[in-house]
Amino acid sequence: MRDFFAEELEALRKRALDRHLREITSAQGPEVVIAGRHFINFSSNDYLGLANDPRLREAAASAIDEFGVGAGASRLISGTQSPHLRLERALAKWKATEAALCFSSGYSTALGTIPALVTKNDVVLLDKLCHASLIDGAKLSGAILRVFPHNHVGKLESHLEWARGEHPGTRVLIITESVFSMDGDRAPLRELVELTKRFDASLMLDEAHAVGVIGPNGRGLAAAENVSEEVDIQMGTLSKALGTSGAYICGSRVLIEWLINRARSFIYSTAPAPAIAAAALAAVDFLSSHQGEERRLLLWERIRLMQELLPRTEFNEKHVAPCSAIFPWIVGGEQTALNLAAALQSDGFLVPAIRYPTVAKGIARLRITVTAAHEEAQIEALCEAIKRRR
Ligand SMILES: Cc1ncc(COP(=O)(O)O)c(C=O)c1O
Repeated sequence: MRDFFAEELEALRKRALDRHLREITSAQGPEVVIAGRHFINFSSNDYLGLANDPRLREAAASAIDEFGVGAGASRLISGTQSPHLRLERALAKWKATEAALCFSSGYSTALGTIPALVTKNDVVLLDKLCHASLIDGAKLSGAILRVFPHNHVGKLESHLEWARGEHPGTRVLIITESVFSMDGDRAPLRELVELTKRFDASLMLDEAHAVGVIGPNGRGLAAAENVSEEVDIQMGTLSKALGTSGAYICGSRVLIEWLINRARSFIYSTAPAPAIAAAALAAVDFLSSHQGEERRLLLWERIRLMQELLPRTEFNEKHVAPCSAIFPWIVGGEQTALNLAAALQSDGFLVPAIRYPTVAKGIARLRITVTAAHEEAQIEALCEAIKRRR
């Protein structure tokens, strides 16, 4: 067995596809410390700079004083503590849905939710660029799975015609993201909503990279496009713009009750630490406030600056207006992406190289993320370094 792993790892290394952990010895923020050296950090999804915010730290610290560190059991046994319920009430209010349910991560949310919604003989239609957690959740459900080309509404429509023709009477679930995690572009949400209604399907929208970034008070793309009520299953993470960890589903009361009874990653897993729920609640309160909205607008100033200064490549030319805080700087080959990331690291910037299987072969990239906590000068310096090194 050990020989097998060693050989496979060597094969990965040869194709520049091996992965390694890197120790960060500081808090998350626009600067991080690795092996005693400071780096300007363009790698995190902490879009609003909340991961080390005093409001969230204080909320977590006082929850630790009151509730301790561990939740002790799964939510259905004895792990539901006040911070979990307060957070869920606040999420439902913020997203303007009847109810919400939190999970310990985005990955476990998808893995628990999708198999609770559809099963063998039902149909799942999934965008090709959906996150691994959504793909894995769809596979785990046992439903018939069809993938449509990225954001291709026409192809989705023909899949829906096929599903209704070949599998009459089954549940049909469309799954997509509002902002795609590796490309940073957006789903054509209004058109998807229209198709969902026309074919009597359901729509699950993962807003992981949109909440905190898009829409009034960072409520996401569905709110920005005024179609929240038509999105049946609204997923989002607490781990990105909300600066903590965990994720949620927002929707109708009956949906949430169903998930409490059927989502296995919720039922059979210890509740998230109450302090994390308290910190996430502080993040939701912040986003709902005037100050939170100002922070989000500051993020958009930084996004526009990055858009203006980042040199164009043959791959990136098409993006005229920025859609999100994610900038893929596509270079093609896996080794080229690794070399560029290493060169930028020697210049003092932390920018991850994203390679297969996270993205398709041959479109490896740097994934640059901008946050409201970046100084203008830091963005200017990165763009200069990319110009020098490319
Ligand atoms: C679109 C999307 N959904 C879900 C997840 C998983 O969330 P988590 O990191 O909280 O497990 C991620 C990334 O991490 C993501 O990019």
